[in-house]
Amino acid sequence: MDRLCKIKTIGVLTSGGDSPGMNAAVYAVTQAALGRGMRVMGIRRGYAGLIGGDIFELDSLAVSGIIHKGGTFLNTARCPEFKSEDGIRRAVEVCRQFGIDGVVVVGGDGSLRGAADLSARGVPCVGLPGTIDNDIAASDYSIGYDTALNTVMRMVDKLRDTSMSHDRCSVVEVMGRKTGWLTLEAGFAVGATYIILPEFEYDFDDLVARMNKFLEEGKKHFIVMVAESVGGVVELAQRIEARTGVESRATILGHVQRGGSPCARDRVAASRLGYHAVSLLSRGVGDRVVVLQKDEVRDYDIREALGMTKKMDRFMYDMASVLSC
Ligand code: ADP
Ligand code: F6P
Repeated sequence: MDRLCKIKTIGVLTSGGDSPGMNAAVYAVTQAALGRGMRVMGIRRGYAGLIGGDIFELDSLAVSGIIHKGGTFLNTARCPEFKSEDGIRRAVEVCRQFGIDGVVVVGGDGSLRGAADLSARGVPCVGLPGTIDNDIAASDYSIGYDTALNTVMRMVDKLRDTSMSHDRCSVVEVMGRKTGWLTLEAGFAVGATYIILPEFEYDFDDLVARMNKFLEEGKKHFIVMVAESVGGVVELAQRIEARTGVESRATILGHVQRGGSPCARDRVAASRLGYHAVSLLSRGVGDRVVVLQKDEVRDYDIREALGMTKKMDRFMYDMASVLSC
């Protein structure tokens, strides 16, 4: 959506599940906007803060010590009210009240849908993919993914220490909402024995056969990675123990996966995407999502981007089973 009006004040908010690097995105947006002579308003708690007018001005000093911090210093929230006609009308009013004429939204799929709705009501928004799930189809990469991947890897490395010591099988549940990206790549990173994703059927007998083969070769500890939307890790651990005789324990990594200082990749991605978002808004262009494709920054109409699909990589999955141990 091209607009002729010149955007003088932009708002920035983080929404949905937090992800490492959201602060770096807010930093980049603020600095890029200030550099263009715009005012920047920080909106607390995502769309909830927008509806509630929980808004304050950001300057360089306010964002100077946040780039390395996990979570989001603007806080985040899930705001069902924003999906209602009343909620969105209130959000538009608040933007007018605060003189906000464009908004950068950092979040996942739901947050981007909100940004499209707000754009349609006359407040140009630019969305940035920020989620550990890496499930925004239009973008090869979403802010927070690599930090989370490294967190999962380090946690499973620790689990391996204890499962090796006890000759056990660790069955580990990994986040990812409905998708298995984090589980698959973490499975590679830890050399998992077996990976179970929502995108592909798996066969319990095949899992048992693989463990039995490794047992015959003398291996005594195992890591099985399971995506959260498959779930059932406690029961799976019990079934594995019953069938293989290997003592098994289930671990749900949980929200630890969303925390921690963002890694360099996330800070750089956040900076590039945030800079581009401001550049769009400075030209009066909204209703766009800024993405990374083959390491290049691109932007798409939000609804078009949300209509895209990202197919799980079967070749990668099959390769993981060849490399498994
Ligand atoms: P994420 O952005 O991580 O996917 P959610 O799905 O919880 O997280 O969405 C975050 C917020 O975005 C919601 O609380 C709501 O305010 C807004 N939102 C979600 N889905 C929609 C939708 N379909 N239309 C408008 N706003 C939405
Ligand atoms: O989208 C990020 C994410 O951490 C998902 O991986 C997970 O399914 C969900 O959020 C958990 O949400 P909550 O913080 O509400 O428990």
